[in-house]
Amino acid sequence: MKLPEEMETVKKIGVAIIGLGTVGSGVVKIINEKGEKIKKRYGFQLEILDCSDLERKRFEDLKESGYECGCFYTDAYKMVENTKADIVVELIGGFEPAKSLILKAIENGKSVVTANKEVVSRSGEEIFDLALEKGVDFFFEAAVGGGIPIIRPLKEMLVANKFSYVAGIVNGTTNYILTRMSKEGLDFNSALLKAQELGYAEPDPRADIEGDDAQAKIAILSSIAFNSRVLKDDVYKEGITKITEKDIKYAYELGYCIKLIAYARQENEGIHAFVRPALIPMNHPLAAVDDVYNAIYLSGDNCGELMFFGEGAGSLAAGSSVVADILQASFAILKGCKGQETKCSCFEKVKLLPMDAFSSKYYLNLKAADQPGVLAKIAGCFGEAGVSIASVIQKESHGETANIIFMTHKTTEMRMRHAIELIKSLEVVESIENSLVVLDEEVL
Ligand SMILES: NC(=O)c1ccc[n+]([C@@H]2O[C@H](COP(=O)([O-])OP(=O)(O)OC[C@H]3O[C@@H](n4cnc5c(N)ncnc54)[C@H](OP(=O)(O)O)[C@@H]3O)[C@@H](O)[C@H]2O)c1
Repeated sequence: MKLPEEMETVKKIGVAIIGLGTVGSGVVKIINEKGEKIKKRYGFQLEILDCSDLERKRFEDLKESGYECGCFYTDAYKMVENTKADIVVELIGGFEPAKSLILKAIENGKSVVTANKEVVSRSGEEIFDLALEKGVDFFFEAAVGGGIPIIRPLKEMLVANKFSYVAGIVNGTTNYILTRMSKEGLDFNSALLKAQELGYAEPDPRADIEGDDAQAKIAILSSIAFNSRVLKDDVYKEGITKITEKDIKYAYELGYCIKLIAYARQENEGIHAFVRPALIPMNHPLAAVDDVYNAIYLSGDNCGELMFFGEGAGSLAAGSSVVADILQASFAILKGCKGQETKCSCFEKVKLLPMDAFSSKYYLNLKAADQPGVLAKIAGCFGEAGVSIASVIQKESHGETANIIFMTHKTTEMRMRHAIELIKSLEVVESIENSLVVLDEEVL
């Protein structure tokens, strides 16, 4: 029999968590529930030493449910200052104080894991620089795609590729709304209400429906895919608030569905990056991604086309990615090579192209007088702007007016905008109902 001092001591990696909300509580549960598996597989133990939240109740609830979560702090700065943990996990979200807490933890020599797209997409470079200087790791798998592993696959497993584009459905709320509009014929407001009732949309849904959330995510994805920093605020974005059930119906009749697409493409001249509702062919794999699911589709010169699909949000799904990052940081600590994977992958400086320069096909839905000669006048505007029409369909007539749907051949956004300005000025045109980009086989 071994004496206690001879018994093999299991190595422990200390973890401190800031924020015990949706993701934070998921991380606490996973670390507790998968502790034995981690120990058996890797021979070490994750130990939650400290937690911080604005409300103690969340901590008490977790403890009451039998989860070990160390000591509690209401002051996250104090926790970061005092903690003996090896890894600090930031899960409060938003830009500040999250960014300052991350920087403080790195200053103090801690490896940091976060799920925070805002901080990474706006201040990634500053954080990477400090992490490199301090010799610690900085990981953020859950910042894009929640439970879908995409950051590390892009950075590591797919490093032997040059990507022509990355396209994603990276916001579950908007995907749910568009899916319900499409499948149940709901209007935008009813679909939003349904999403809110089910907890898929926040009481204040603006960050999702106006495209901000997806904007941060495509900034991160394109920075990694093209090795050149793309900042969130430089990415063009449009939300889904102007999409009507009629647009969805007309698109369907033309063989397309409407999705909020986060898209980035590298051309010789630079990088295009945007978030906007787009028509995509019904037979494209992204068209099958419904409800709150997320997917990231990409095309690499060696790997070909790939799609990563899964739960883009949720306590345990996002928690699964965070715990994977905690383990990755732990391996480096235990092997004594902390910080060696930190080097930022943005070693190029490629310029971001303006939206006007993007070339694609377009969908235009307008309401115009239902009388002879109208189509010729509108066609004249397209011609003057240098846009070639691929098809025209006149939809239902509303007494004096009718909806007309135009699909164009490939053209630039600038020409299309010019055409719309000319069309708007025609007396016979009552309103431009919607103009949407069409991402078909030439760009997707
Ligand atoms: N939810 C998801 O499915 C998901 C998926 C992927 C990534 N993420 C990302 O994960 C992060 C966390 O999201 P979440 O959904 O878990 O948010 P959440 O449910 O709002 O949780 C955040 C928690 O942090 C607390 N908090 C706020 N400020 C704090 C501070 N200064 N010090 C200590 N605690 C503080 C909040 O308390 P109060 O509630 O009292 O303010 C709340 O308990 C965000 O960056 C988010 O974008 C979330």
